[in-house]
Order: sequence, then C-alpha cells, then structure tokens
Amino acid sequence: MADKVAVQAEKLAALLDEKRVFPPSEEFRRQANAPDPAIYTKAGRSLEDFWAEEASRLDWFKQWDKVLEWNTPWAKWFVGGKLNVTHNCVDRHAASARRNKAAIVWEGEPGDARVLTFGMLAREVNRFANALKSLGVKKGDRVAIYLGMTPELPIAMLACAKIGAPHSIVFGGFSADSLRERINDAKAKVLITADGAWRRGAVVPLKASADQALEGTPSIEKVVVAERVGKAAHVTMQSGRDLWWKDLVANASDKCDAEPMDAEDMLYILYTSGTTGKPKGVVHTTAGYLVGVSATHRYIFDIKETDVFWCTADIGWVTGHSYIVYGPLANGTTTLMYEGTPDYPDRGRFWAIVAKYGVNVLYTAPTAIRTFMRWGADWPAKHDLSSLRVLGTVGEPINPEAWIWYHENIGRGRCPIVDTWWQTETGMILITPLPGLTRTKPGSATRPFPGVEAEVLDDKGQPVGPGAGGYLVLTRPWPAMFRTIYGDPDRYVKQYWSRYPGKYFTGDGAKVDADGYFWLLGRVDDVMNVAGHRISTYEVESALVDHASVAEAAVIGRSHDVKGQGIASFVTLKEGVQATDQLKEELKAHVAKKIGAIARPDDIFFTSELPKTRSAKIMRRLLRDIAEGRILGDTTTLADPTVVSNLKQQYEEEGKSD
Ligand code: WTA
Repeated sequence: MADKVAVQAEKLAALLDEKRVFPPSEEFRRQANAPDPAIYTKAGRSLEDFWAEEASRLDWFKQWDKVLEWNTPWAKWFVGGKLNVTHNCVDRHAASARRNKAAIVWEGEPGDARVLTFGMLAREVNRFANALKSLGVKKGDRVAIYLGMTPELPIAMLACAKIGAPHSIVFGGFSADSLRERINDAKAKVLITADGAWRRGAVVPLKASADQALEGTPSIEKVVVAERVGKAAHVTMQSGRDLWWKDLVANASDKCDAEPMDAEDMLYILYTSGTTGKPKGVVHTTAGYLVGVSATHRYIFDIKETDVFWCTADIGWVTGHSYIVYGPLANGTTTLMYEGTPDYPDRGRFWAIVAKYGVNVLYTAPTAIRTFMRWGADWPAKHDLSSLRVLGTVGEPINPEAWIWYHENIGRGRCPIVDTWWQTETGMILITPLPGLTRTKPGSATRPFPGVEAEVLDDKGQPVGPGAGGYLVLTRPWPAMFRTIYGDPDRYVKQYWSRYPGKYFTGDGAKVDADGYFWLLGRVDDVMNVAGHRISTYEVESALVDHASVAEAAVIGRSHDVKGQGIASFVTLKEGVQATDQLKEELKAHVAKKIGAIARPDDIFFTSELPKTRSAKIMRRLLRDIAEGRILGDTTTLADPTVVSNLKQQYEEEGKSD
C-alpha cells in the first residue's frame, strides 16, 4: 500500500501547482440553504444536536430516545425511533400540497417519457408493495432487483421499503454469474427483473441473463418480470416461478399501510468490490441513512422547492440509491432519471435533456466530463443550459482541466461546482464544498461536511503535515454510515476499523493543503476505479484464471485519459497454449462474460513469468510502473530481475491498446 502512496506523489506535485480559487458569488450565497459558516462549528460542537435537527424534518411514527450510540465500530442512530422510508419519500408528499408535483421525471432512451407525480408514485408503489406481499414477501425478506433505468426500478425499491423488505439491487450491466453470486449471498426470496433494457438502440437481455443466474439460486421462489422492450427480446417464462409485473399489479389495491420500521432495521444491501475476489454486501439501515442522504442533498446541492435535480448515475450504484431515489424524494424534490447513454442518438443527448426539462442541478462523474471534453464544446453550446444553477461531480478525483471545462462549458461560468467525495460504505457525501460558502479549488473536494471529521495519516498512524500524502481516515461516526458487511461482521471490523483502531479506513490516499482542503488521490488498496466503477483486481484475476488457457494472472489499474483507470492484465498461459491476438480477445470477452462489460480488460500482456518477490508475492507496483511507462523502481527484492526487463521490453514493443 505504501507503494501506492509513493506513486501518488507524482499526482500531488501536479495538484500543488493548482492555485485557482472560485468563491461563491454574493448573489448565490444570499439565497443558499447553508449561507452561514457557523454550520461547521455548530455541528462540530454537538454532532447529536446537529443531526437531531436534520432528523426532525422527517416524519416519525415514534420519536427516537437517543440520537447516537457509538460503541466503536458499531453505531446506532436515532435509537428507539420508528419510521418508514417510503412514507417519508412518497406518502407524506402525496398527502400534501406536493401531491401533483412531479416526483420522478423519466426519459427513455428511445425518446419516450413518463412523469409520475407524488400522488401517482404513491399509488404505483402501493400496488407493487401489495403484489410483493401476495408473493409471500414479508418484513425482513431480501428482494433482489436486476432492472434497467426505468420507473419500475424506484417503484420496486420504494415498495420493498414500504413493507420492510430490504432490497439488493444488482446493476443491469453485471453478468449472470455476478447476479447469482449476489442473490446467493443475500439469500433473496424474490427477483425483480425486466424482459430487457435499451442501450444505444440495442437490447440488453436482462431476463435471459437472470434465467442463467437462476440455475443456481435455491433461495429464489418467484421472479417478477417488467416489460420494457417487448418483442425485441425473446423471453421464456417458467411457469410457477415467473410472473409478469403488469399481471401482478392489475388487480392489486393502491392502498398499503407503511410498515413501522425500527431506526436500525436494514433498508438495503448493496454489493461492492473490496480487496478480495468476493464482493461484499454493504448494509444500510433506515433512519440514519435517510437523515444523512436528505440533509446532504439539501445543503450540498442547494435544493429549492421548484428544482429539477438530475443525477446521471445508474441506480444500480450507491450514487443512484442515495441521490436519484432516497435523498431527493425525501426532500420532495423532482428527480430526473434517464435510461440510456450520453451519445444516443447523438453526443448532445445530455444537454438536450437539460434543456427539455429545465434541469437546475446536475450531478455527474469526471469520466463523463472528460468524455464530453473529447467530444468538444460545440455539443453543449447548441443547447439552452441557462436553467443550471449547481453542478456536482462524484466517483473519482476530478482533474483540474476537466473541472474548468465543466465550469466554463456547462456552468457557463455561473454555477458553483461541488466535487463530492464518498463511498458505497459511507452512504452519503462526506467531503464536499457547500456551494454558498466554500471557495472551491479545481481538483479538491475541499472540506468534510459539517459534523464529519477526516484525517490524513502516515503508515504509523501519525497525521501527515500540509501537502504530504497519506491515508484518508474518518474519526467520527455519521448517520448514513454502513452498519456491517452482510453475513460477515468480522470483515467489517478487520477491513475498515483495524488498521488504525477506532478510525474508519477509507482505502483512499489524500493530502490536506495549508488551507485545510482535502485532495483525493485515488485508492491505496487493490481496488481499481474504472470510469467511476469500483472493480477489484482480484475479481478480474479470478475471471482470467477461470479460463482454460490461463495459468496465472496479475491485474492492475493503470492511468487512462478518459476512464481515470484502465485495466491492464499480465497473463501466463498453460503449457503448450499459443499466445495469439485471438486469445487476447477471447480472454477479454471471458472477463466481460464472467463479471460484466465494465470489467473488460483494456490490455492483456502474455508473459512467461510474473515478477515475484522471493516470498512469491506478485509485485504489482512493478507491473504498474511498466504499464504506465515509468522508470522502474527498485527491483532488488525480485526473485528473478530479468522477468521485469523482459516484460518492459515486450510492453514497449506492443504498446497500449487505447
Ligand atoms: C472514489 C461512489 C475522488 C474513491 C460514491 C472512493 C472519489 C470510491 C470521489 C468509492 C471524489 C468517489 N474524489 N475520489 N469526489 N468520489 N471517489 O463505492 O476512491 O462506488 O473510495 O462510491 O470512489 O466508490 P463507490
């Protein structure tokens, strides 16, 4: 891990040169939801008071007895409180003046659209909640969801939350194997999927993948299939197991009482990649999560009653859970969801959507911004973007050039940018500017959110000085923090709370500058960040060695201009197998089939040996040096130093494939 920090020193040097500062305009500050810097001192002084005030904006069936119980590393928030997430996100708005306000504005990739008001959403959710009940789903049963970005996805989530059944959403781009693994870990009782999803005009055959996954999922009793692509997909329904969504809801009542949930009852499981081959089930609970996501959404995006908020993530990732569905809807905000890709039917699609719906706040990822930069400023220039007021980014460090491009070409110089750092595990944004208060610096996520405390430590656990790189840790609990790893509490303790006892280890490198601003430097563990997606090197290695021709594989993330990181793999083949270009393609396809297209390696290098230490550990640092064309570091600990010089020579001859 120390190697990773050393590699990051280069990035640091470049970032230290960044001197530009962007203060919020006086006009923006005056109207901001958080206009007074006292919010930081207030929350710092009493975490409990700060979060209790935020919690009181929600509807509670029973008030909590205690805001926080912190037995490091086990947290309980709003102890004794009872509430229901869907009641807070939908029903209370449907029963108010917001009844006919748009809750979800949905744009389909082919250009079809659907608007659900809070009143309509409440009825749809109730129908589906009753349908789930009719399938035998009870409080505490897990429900797996494998859908594209259509309104059925938030409806299904909210229906689960209404009856107290935790959902486990699996991103629609994941393979059948990945889906099966997640269903089995969560022991889900029901799977909700669709006939297919649209992507760049082609069909993603969700039901067909689900059928494959379901060959080995003993816990699944029923499968609900939503219709999206119709005749474009060939669907077979297994009688007794598979049911069409539309048939199930046809006669279902649109009334359903909200299950009173304990503050600490599980709301959902979401699987994410860690430092082993097996994805881990991050567990989020009810009250703290909802308080955390709604408060951060309101302050960080400066949300107003009439705003249209667009987070461009897929709901299959945590960003979509927290900032397409739960945060915005808890605040009664109109949330926009788009089904497709930014380049369909042309590269102006995002900007056409902003103009069409008058989007006020846009939240997207640096990898998307770099893609837009590549496509050129003419695309956004063709559209009316004057409705935009705040711009956000998330998922990976944003390079200052991309930040400036976003500011000038999308925000037209008027909109504050919030670079928000957080993780699946943190549930809510933790390091971020507040748009009416913070003087932003391109490339820095700036400061911890009020009440949050972060430090950058060296190997020994000592805080590093200003400007030096180290490990980012969090030192106080926050309400939306995950509570455990599903079925593996030891891993929760070991992986996150043991390296620096009592402190949350983020797995990210960072530095703090002289103004106390945080600059994120990327992962320090074996997790790659490819186009904002978390992928473990071990997952890709396991997929490669699963192929009949592969003896051994080592995978690393290497820098990539658009995706942030690309996946480079070094592969040794079994005796007698020919190293051909065709085999490279076959291996790439194999990984995509095993995990999903997001994990498809960018480069594959065949090598007769991998560089190993004398204790047989693969030296990933050297592989990264090779893949990024750096001068090689110290190779004296290698069992066989010629392996590296051979590899380096081969790499330079073959070049990278982007
Ligand atoms: C990275 C996504 C720099 C980081 C919400 C973290 C970031 C991982 C930022 C979590 C940011 C996220 N600046 N890096 N603003 N936001 N990251 O779990 O490495 O998919 O650990 O959650 O993304 O990814 P995850």
